[in-house]
Amino acid sequence: MVKLVVVNRAGEQSEIEATEGTSVMEALRDNGMDELLALCGGCCSCATCHVYIDPAFAGALPPRSEDENDLLDSSDHKTEQSRLSCQVPVTSALEGLRVTIAPED
Ligand code: FES
Repeated sequence: MVKLVVVNRAGEQSEIEATEGTSVMEALRDNGMDELLALCGGCCSCATCHVYIDPAFAGALPPRSEDENDLLDSSDHKTEQSRLSCQVPVTSALEGLRVTIAPED
């Protein structure tokens, strides 16, 4: 299991355990973070799983795909730290990663 630190939209911080091989979106959903809608179920077509990733971990993540980048462009809240959490696989390199749920569009 990989420990992630999650900050919700109210700014409250909690720790969750994520299973390697799942996505960060699945880990958030499975731990009851229901403000992350993830409406498309992880198909990279809705952008409702938008999160901000701790920049210290940028090198541990796969780069954004063109589709992911295009979807993030549709958000008013896109930043350099933006990712679609369904496109971020949980690996041991993410131990301690801080994930902040982005504001709703
Ligand atoms: S769940 Fe829809 S894009 Fe991630």
